[in-house]
Amino acid sequence: MLRNRRFRRTESLLRLFTETDVPARALVPAYFVVEGSGVRRELPENSGLWQLSCDTLREEAQRARDGGAEAIMLFAVPSEKGLARATEGSSLACQAVRACEGTGLVRMADVCLCSYTADGHCGLWREGHHGRPGGVDNDSTVEVLAEMAVALAASGAEVVAPSDMMDGRVAAIRAALERDGLGDTLVLSYAAKMASAMYGPFRHAADSAPQHGDRRGYQMNPANGREAMREMAADIAEGADMLMMKPALTNLDLIAAARARWDVPIVAYQVSGEYAMVAEAARAGRIDRQRAARETLVSIRRAGADLVVSYFAPDVWAGKLVL
Ligand code: PBG
Ligand code: ZN
Repeated sequence: MLRNRRFRRTESLLRLFTETDVPARALVPAYFVVEGSGVRRELPENSGLWQLSCDTLREEAQRARDGGAEAIMLFAVPSEKGLARATEGSSLACQAVRACEGTGLVRMADVCLCSYTADGHCGLWREGHHGRPGGVDNDSTVEVLAEMAVALAASGAEVVAPSDMMDGRVAAIRAALERDGLGDTLVLSYAAKMASAMYGPFRHAADSAPQHGDRRGYQMNPANGREAMREMAADIAEGADMLMMKPALTNLDLIAAARARWDVPIVAYQVSGEYAMVAEAARAGRIDRQRAARETLVSIRRAGADLVVSYFAPDVWAGKLVL
């Protein structure tokens, strides 16, 4: 008889034959940078999403580094909407990148327009024409994204992470980086990003909820796995160094498929709603927060993710989550 329970007889046997680890290095915390100083607020309350000013961001980055993190994901939330500053070296996003300089963390900077546009869309809205309904205009958006990526890279971001889901933006970003002598910048492309119900808390923290319509004209239909593979293939062909899957738990199949198909690093984003599902159930006393968090993270790693962007990451250096 096959007796697999032999492996489970003692604690040390269980530990010895553990196949998948979640090293602190694999967890990437994400922060929302706002103007001012001394700002440190969780928004919405208990969401695990933190708005920080540049000074507190630096403190938090140092704490993360001391706790074993190797990278940080940065989102900027400017108080005034408008695209003018999005592409400038003086932008809040660029300030945030510079604030983390010398912390030893790899700085991953989000590239998207939804915190800048008045209507909260990830690109430039174009009114209907030729009898077509209005929508986000792909090619003019891509031009702005490329300039934004250049500004972030020039400010010191080792990684730029386009999360907009426009077509052709990886190629445009690559070309713009090369043109400006920033060709050593890594591009982490959100390849399979679903139009998900799981982004609610993020849109509060990033002040990026669409004011009209939704994101289904550019983010993916969650039903489409083969289309996700085409997105990934396109991004690799355009020069992406790494691929992001998002959300994580609802796309474990895609993480595994990406792992099997390509040899680039695969990153998964455990998004704000996934965090909320665990955190809120734990707050209600229904599940154990630490065990549930660990189980989700180890599952995402087991599916094949090298790195996981997660709002649970700071729990590790707070000593609340033992992996
Ligand atoms: C927008 C963006 C979103 C997230 C990351 N980048 C939200 C959206 O598409 O509306 C979601 C992350 C999260 O929920 O934690 N470019
Ligand atoms: Zn966006």
